[in-house]
Amino acid sequence: MSSTSLDAFWMPFTANRQFKAEPRLLVSAEGMYYKSDDGRSILDGTAGLWCTNAGHGRKQISEAVAKQIHELDYAPTFQMGHPLPFELAQRLVKHSPEGMNHVFFTNSGSESVDTALKIALAYHKAKGNGSKTRLIGREKGYHGTNFGGISVGGLGNNRRFFGSLLTGVDHLQHAWTPENIFSKGLPDHGVELAEELNTMIQLHGAENIAAVIVEPVVGSGGVYMPPQGYLKRLREITAQNDILLIFDEVITGYGRVGEAFAANRMGVTPDIITTAKGLTNGAIPMGAVFVQDFIHDAFMHGPEEVIELFHGYTYSGHPVAAAAALATLDIYEQENLFNKAIELEQHWQEALHSLREYDVVKDIRNYGLVGAVEFHQGDKLGERGYKAFNHCFWKENTLVRCTGDVIAMSPPLIISENQIDELVASLGNAIKTL
Ligand SMILES: Cc1ncc(COP(=O)(O)O)c(C=O)c1O
Repeated sequence: MSSTSLDAFWMPFTANRQFKAEPRLLVSAEGMYYKSDDGRSILDGTAGLWCTNAGHGRKQISEAVAKQIHELDYAPTFQMGHPLPFELAQRLVKHSPEGMNHVFFTNSGSESVDTALKIALAYHKAKGNGSKTRLIGREKGYHGTNFGGISVGGLGNNRRFFGSLLTGVDHLQHAWTPENIFSKGLPDHGVELAEELNTMIQLHGAENIAAVIVEPVVGSGGVYMPPQGYLKRLREITAQNDILLIFDEVITGYGRVGEAFAANRMGVTPDIITTAKGLTNGAIPMGAVFVQDFIHDAFMHGPEEVIELFHGYTYSGHPVAAAAALATLDIYEQENLFNKAIELEQHWQEALHSLREYDVVKDIRNYGLVGAVEFHQGDKLGERGYKAFNHCFWKENTLVRCTGDVIAMSPPLIISENQIDELVASLGNAIKTL
């Protein structure tokens, strides 16, 4: 790599000049470990970018991909079909909450989100409620980077450079309260914040609101768990007002918090679930949007020769991606990986909360196999987070993720208890340098 100039690749969500001065390059991966370009084994504490839930280098997936490329490299799913996405959708809905038996395929989390928002709007129109067009997101929400997703998203930097965005969007307050500091699992305080939705309904009228979208666990916005009862209350209010509830499960989907979906674990069934990442174990880009039967069925009226939803992507249900997803699902099922995060949760929690002894640590949060350690801000916002992340990579041979002064961790679900201890100890060593 050293002879290749790094200049031409404009890297996403990266301080390009800082990175290129001291590049962190990963060149291969197996199981729980990456290999860096200087030959070090790096313990993966982030499942890549919340994707490789089954660990790296899974031969079942790469072989399925290779076989599929040879057999059928591409076929359209506009007015044509091929068997794999039908098979995949049928298999996937066995894991989704009851009544969510239809799947629309995309290529990423961002596309899943925009697809979900469009389905919500078109659904109300199909039902004759065309005035229901407003969308409600939440502060600190991350819903990808397409225009719909950044409009409902609640992270200033992802929005403020990109014009006026979608109109008719409101944001609920962020649902984390200071009383929840150092709480374990789902926090006790803050259920009342869901009532803000009623205030918005009073302001705009339920007849004008199409959907509410939230991440069950906030990921990129800093890793925040929902207060106990909060999502259930959102569900009650949305159901009472014919407003669709969308869970963005792009990171929580496929076993991250202990069941196939956070909706399953938390016992709250939304109307639409967006997913991507773990769907193919990160190997091939693919997303999937799950919808309740009543939404799908609302489109299946009118003349049969008319397209019911004018939406889709050239690569929706791509054969190679579908083959990767089917092989991934085989692994999840054969190795019972959707239960792993619950099995490991107690150990994960105790290990993470052992870092509380350091003064610089402001908060620790955990749920399933998701964890966050937040630092008190140093001289500059994000300086400590970056320093800890960089130290882990170069000195401890571990990969964690920093968003501002929060270190986020979400290891592959195949991690062992010893590896959890190793990962957390490495972060402890990094914290000592702050
Ligand atoms: C909750 C959530 N939604 C959407 C996305 C966007 O996914 P993608 O980067 O695949 O477009 C992400 C990515 O991290 C995410 O965490």
